[in-house]
Amino acid sequence: MSFVITTPLYYVNDKPHLGSIYTTIICDSIARYKRLLGQKVIFITGVDEHGLKIQRTAYEKGVKPENHCNEISNIFLDNWKDWDITFDKFIRTSSRDHESIVGEFYNRVRKSDDIYMGVQKGWYCVGCEEFKDNPENSSTYKCPIHQKNLEWKNEENLFFRLSKYQSEIEQLISEPSFIEPKERRNEIINFVSKGLKDFSISRTNVSWGIPVPDTKDHTFYVWFDALLGYVSAISLNEGKHSLDESISGGWPADIHLIGKDILRFHAVYWPAMLISAGMKLPKKVFGHGFLTREGQKMGKSLGNVLDPNSLLTKYGKDPVRWYLIKDITLGNDGDFQNKRFVDIVNNDLANTIGNLLNRTSSMSRKWFDNKVPNIDGLPDENEISSLAKETINNYLKHFDSYKLDLAAKEILNLAINTNLYLNDKQPWTLIKEDPKYSEVKDIIYNVLESTRIIGTLLLPILPDLSSKIDLQLGSIYSKEIPWKEQLEWGILNNSSLLPKPNPIIDKLEYG
Ligand code: MSP
Repeated sequence: MSFVITTPLYYVNDKPHLGSIYTTIICDSIARYKRLLGQKVIFITGVDEHGLKIQRTAYEKGVKPENHCNEISNIFLDNWKDWDITFDKFIRTSSRDHESIVGEFYNRVRKSDDIYMGVQKGWYCVGCEEFKDNPENSSTYKCPIHQKNLEWKNEENLFFRLSKYQSEIEQLISEPSFIEPKERRNEIINFVSKGLKDFSISRTNVSWGIPVPDTKDHTFYVWFDALLGYVSAISLNEGKHSLDESISGGWPADIHLIGKDILRFHAVYWPAMLISAGMKLPKKVFGHGFLTREGQKMGKSLGNVLDPNSLLTKYGKDPVRWYLIKDITLGNDGDFQNKRFVDIVNNDLANTIGNLLNRTSSMSRKWFDNKVPNIDGLPDENEISSLAKETINNYLKHFDSYKLDLAAKEILNLAINTNLYLNDKQPWTLIKEDPKYSEVKDIIYNVLESTRIIGTLLLPILPDLSSKIDLQLGSIYSKEIPWKEQLEWGILNNSSLLPKPNPIIDKLEYG
């Protein structure tokens, strides 16, 4: 059975920003981890191309929506490649294949008698593509997320009978594993307890959308169409493309990783739509927090949007991945501060991990003929080998429960303690005393083996840095051997050659 993980399908009103990179990097790390554990993974990402927001963006630019979507979707695709995102499926909701699956799904829901024609009146945020409460009932009230005026809508729409699924949804969200983190689950429980209202799934004033079969002038509401992208992605490029193929190809998703602002759609509307269509429900919806910059929400109007491309060119992938994964608890809001970013990368990666490897490798090369010390059998169980074992167990436990920050901190903790061990044992003093020669061998072996474990644990989080560590240790990581087996203590080859040390990461500069 495949492990299916999804990013949100990003609106193509603009190119990716750090928020979209953030979610995608986390998913990438989880996907890499699951693959390393030997699971088949379907990592789905893509773009949400329909709706009023995109239609308007294109018209404002003076181009056809399809041309605009082609341009921005390609930018997303290129960006994901630049960031080395290991997605398996990239779905575009404007594709013909997707359209046919939306039609099939709609027929199922119609057969369940869950669609009817009604009148939709209310205040709409085009940015969110969502009807909103308007406490002032005025056209000057602004959406708290987009800071833009809401628009009054009054039109005939098709409705989906969400209210029919009140008790099923209540039961679903009461499962602690369905919505994470806990605080977010409580928000949704609170929302659902007020009573679910049917919601409209078609529009008559939006031409840039999928036409609703048998209903003249109606296109599907962008969210109804977009959520189905997760399903249609599965049979994309698989020869046969249909709802059944997607279902047998891996549905349901194991985890939808999304931002907290779109939790209702994923944890309430989407499951109800799936129940109506007789389909299985996603196993988990994880709502992460928002990224701010130097304490302020990132936004075009504030002029403080961080361009991920400039971060990539200036600093490279791994420093940004490390900061986003290690410094932000998945589920909490996180702040991007330039100084903190530089300090963390320099301290954790360059000083703590990089220097540990470099200085130990230099000592080993100098004292043991450019090699890993040739020890007789493994050194006895010692503080570093015990700590490494404990680190591995904790890391796996944290990764399995999507606590990636804690998994990353486990690695760092092992590196910090290995540095302390080295400073405490002072092999540079012992080497001058002849009888202590074998003790020095054991110390150096322990430290090098610990850095090997550190590098191996870093593989799903910082793939490039992990490979550089491996290279410095004589390229002993093997893709043919299960990753978990390579986390065993004592794999470092006695007397294998150590190449000339090279810093695995350059220190970053402020600014
Ligand atoms: N198209 C919908 C999702 C449809 S999923 C079937 C959408 N797109 S979006 O581009 O507006 O947002 C995509 C994701 O980016 C959302 O999960 C949103 O929470 C996230 N973020 C937007 N701004 C963000 C930050 N500043 N920080 C972190 N994530 C942010 O919603």
